[in-house]
Amino acid sequence: MEVPNRLKQINPPPRLMMGPGPVNADPRVQRAMSADLLGQYDPAMTDYMNEVMALYREIFVTENQWTFLIDGTSRSAIEAALLSLIEAGDKVLVLVYGRFGHLLTEIAERAGAEVVPVHKEWGQVFTPEEVADALDEHKPKILATCQGDTSTTMNQPLDQIGHLCRERGVISYVDATASLVGNPLPVDAWAIDVCTVGLQKCLGGPSGSGPITISDRVAALIKERWHVEKGIEPPGFVPGKRSRIASNYFDLAMVMAYWSPERLNHHTEATSMLYCARECARCVLEEGLQNALDRHALASRAMVAGLQTLGLKLFGDLSHKMTNVTGVYIPEEVEGEAIRHAMLHDFGIEIGTSFGPLHGKIWRIGAMGYNARKDTILRTLSSLTSVLKLHGMRLSEDDAALAALEVYREAE
Ligand SMILES: Cc1ncc(COP(=O)(O)O)c(C=O)c1O
Repeated sequence: MEVPNRLKQINPPPRLMMGPGPVNADPRVQRAMSADLLGQYDPAMTDYMNEVMALYREIFVTENQWTFLIDGTSRSAIEAALLSLIEAGDKVLVLVYGRFGHLLTEIAERAGAEVVPVHKEWGQVFTPEEVADALDEHKPKILATCQGDTSTTMNQPLDQIGHLCRERGVISYVDATASLVGNPLPVDAWAIDVCTVGLQKCLGGPSGSGPITISDRVAALIKERWHVEKGIEPPGFVPGKRSRIASNYFDLAMVMAYWSPERLNHHTEATSMLYCARECARCVLEEGLQNALDRHALASRAMVAGLQTLGLKLFGDLSHKMTNVTGVYIPEEVEGEAIRHAMLHDFGIEIGTSFGPLHGKIWRIGAMGYNARKDTILRTLSSLTSVLKLHGMRLSEDDAALAALEVYREAE
């Protein structure tokens, strides 16, 4: 009798994921995830937790003691940050230049903030002067922005924005889910208060863990909202003087106590994801953070050279493009989804579409994390060349993959 699919061992088709993320995980990360489980208070486990804190301090380039993991996808770390920072009625200024700015707006609204979104056309970024003006006009408690908004492939410069906030006593929050490790973001040097990330982009892992870092001054503010769930209050427990955080799971005051030497019980740390996050960081630091940044920048130059050789028009302000993903207009003579379908089903390569006003207008082609490599870029470009030809596009004689290879040769 034929075994029904649901009873067969899982056996995903081989794919090269060259979209905006997720991307293929580094095999070392996958091996780390299959390591034996430990109890959450096993000293070996708590040692790993401490190591993870130290490793991510290096990834975020920070001295922040409060650098740890939120269990869940990147969005869980965003929610934990915003819910723990925002008290009802707080004013939050959000820089919206793509879909993920809208997400920050929505989460801040749900947390009870008075949200002031400032908008930029998709494909552009804010200047520091515009941010300073908005801070002066609206006088928010918190400024929230993405670093890389993957929906538009733009990278918001942040080197001055954290300082602009700090000078005005504003808390800065940055969603670097899609950009960290592919684009520079030294958290302390740029005076960012809270920053969160995910694993499935430039860190080369699967989604499911949200590393976070919190400045000391903001951690102190969060601790003022310290309310412990009944039944586990530590001896002498005195609740914080400020309002209780609206979520139990994302209560950073409690999660920080769990990651502190007291190990106050909260959730059960997702052990395999912790191994995974540890290995993602270890791989980056073994390579060297600067080398990883350079690898992404080189991949970007090679991808751009190849796509331009194909005669494709790139999307947005290229001087502020994320290194790890490139937006490209879908040529009029082809049907965007048919090309993506052929790339996936004939060549096993995934490229991305986009959202909202860009849906059906651009593809997003990524090279990040484990996939920011010469061979993956060359494969993607030669496959795209074949698929475009097959769909009737007239291309120049010049070879896209060779143009990308040339960029690598020049760099070597
Ligand atoms: C900039 C940005 N923020 C947030 C998210 C949400 O991440 P997750 O799907 O891991 O929750 C993404 C996902 O692509 C993203 O690119």
